[in-house]
This record gives sequence, structure tokens and C-alpha cells, in this order.
Amino acid sequence: MTTEHSNPSLAIRMDNVVKTYGSGATAVHAVKGVNLEVSPGEVVGLLGPSGSGKTTLLQCLGAVIDPTSGKIVLGGEVIYDNGWRVGDLRALRRDKIGFVFQAPYLIPFISVLDNVALLPMLAGQSNNKARERAMELLTALEVDHRSHAKPSELSGGEQQRVAIARALANKPPFILADEPTAPLDSERSLIVMKLLTKLAEQYQTAIIVVTHDDIIIPRFKRLYRLRDGIAHEEQGQGLPFPD
Ligand SMILES: Nc1ncnc2c1ncn2[C@@H]1O[C@H](COP(=O)(O)OP(=O)(O)OP(=O)(O)O)[C@@H](O)[C@H]1O
Ligand SMILES: [Mg+2]
Repeated sequence: MTTEHSNPSLAIRMDNVVKTYGSGATAVHAVKGVNLEVSPGEVVGLLGPSGSGKTTLLQCLGAVIDPTSGKIVLGGEVIYDNGWRVGDLRALRRDKIGFVFQAPYLIPFISVLDNVALLPMLAGQSNNKARERAMELLTALEVDHRSHAKPSELSGGEQQRVAIARALANKPPFILADEPTAPLDSERSLIVMKLLTKLAEQYQTAIIVVTHDDIIIPRFKRLYRLRDGIAHEEQGQGLPFPD
């Protein structure tokens, strides 16, 4: 099944994406031919057991690694097509894709606030504007009281919320989140998911969230479940978020 797009040029699309690590007898066939599509404004869940290729798929989409074959289109732009890939990967990652990794990977020697403000600054915003935007996001994620601390002085859950703020800072058209709520309690997991969903609606962002979280899974309207290297599409319950 494919989804109707309000604007097809803004979607995420994977056609028959294959990723094999290594070759010969020791080759790992992590992804065997995935078709996947996310519309603008949509938040889609990506589920599957450990080792089923979820992170691999996100890394292919985010141009962190190259697939072995297949085609990937982001926002109407082909970024990978059977061995060919787009030239300026740095610009793609900086301007278009908000990543939330399984681990926060914050820059240790600058403040929490500057970790979030850095990308908007690199994208050309004034320092004041970038810090204002960063503070807004830290407030929405309830970690603004730690804005002047260094990342190592924060708890794991706080660091993850900073990493989420950083991913949202440039208002990227695509957000790829790898178990973003894993270190969070259920109340905060819901806050994060609600924020992502609101953002998706507001800015027509296309979002993929990898998760095992039973609090989160019933909120998706649509899901993909990875099994044997293939993504199977499912309808979700689409439960509303508590106020
Ligand atoms: N760099 C690599 N080299 C070789 N094999 C790899 C590499 N990265 C991942 N794999 C293998 O590819 C398969 C898919 O891994 P991946 O990390 O995508 O799984 P995952 O679904 O994200 O798992 P988890 O839920 O544990 O994070 C696994 O069998 C893994 O061991
Ligand atoms: Mg993973």
C-alpha cells in the first residue's frame, strides 16, 4: 500500500533497498529489499527485533552508510541509486536530516545550549537567534534548567532530550530517530513523541521513529515491521496523546 501525498516531492522513499555487510562466507544480509514510504507530516514507527536492520535502514536513509543496491529519494531528490550517490553528503545531513541516534553523541566541551544552537549557527543564523531557538526546544523538552551545564553533567535521559532538541533545531524536513525514548521514563517518552508529532504537522516533517517502547507503539497511525530483512507495513492504533 502506498500513501497519498499532499506533496509527493517532500516524502521519504526507499525502493528495494539492500544492505549487505562484508562479502563471501562472512557476509551479513542485514536488509534484503526494503520498500518504504513516509509522507510529509507523517510520523511512522519502525519496529523489529534486535539485529533486524533498523539502524542499518536509518543509516542508509541518512547517508551515513551506502546501501548495496536499491534507490533512496528524499524530498524529490534521488540521494542514492544503485551504486550512485549524491555528491554533497555533508550539506544533505546538515540541512535536511535531523538525526537522533541510539546514543546522544553530544559535544562534551560546549554547553547544552550551544550543542543545540550549533547547527542553526552553522546554517547561518545569528548566535542570538540560534540560542533563542535552542532555548525554546530545551524548554519544550523540559531540560532548559540544565542549559548552561556540560553534557557529562546531565543524566542519560536529559542528554537524550538534548540530542532530540539538537535534531529539531534546524527544522529539518526529515527526522530519523533511533530509539529516541529508550533512556526516558514513560511520561517523558510521551512528551517527546507528542512534540515530534506536533512538529511533523506544523512543518510537514516526515519522521521515522525506531522503537521497542510499548507506550509509544500504539500512538503510530502507520508502522513498518522488519522481518527477515523485509519491511512489512501495518496499520497502527493511532491513539491520541494525553494533554
Ligand atoms: N558495520 C557492520 N558490519 C557488519 N555487520 C553489521 C554492521 N552493523 C550492523 N551489522 C549487522 O547487521 C544486522 C542489522 O544490524 P542493525 O544494527 O541494523 O540492527 P537493529 O535492528 O538496529 O538492532 P538493535 O535493535 O539491536 O539496535 C545485525 O546482524 C548486525 O550484526
Ligand atoms: Mg539499532
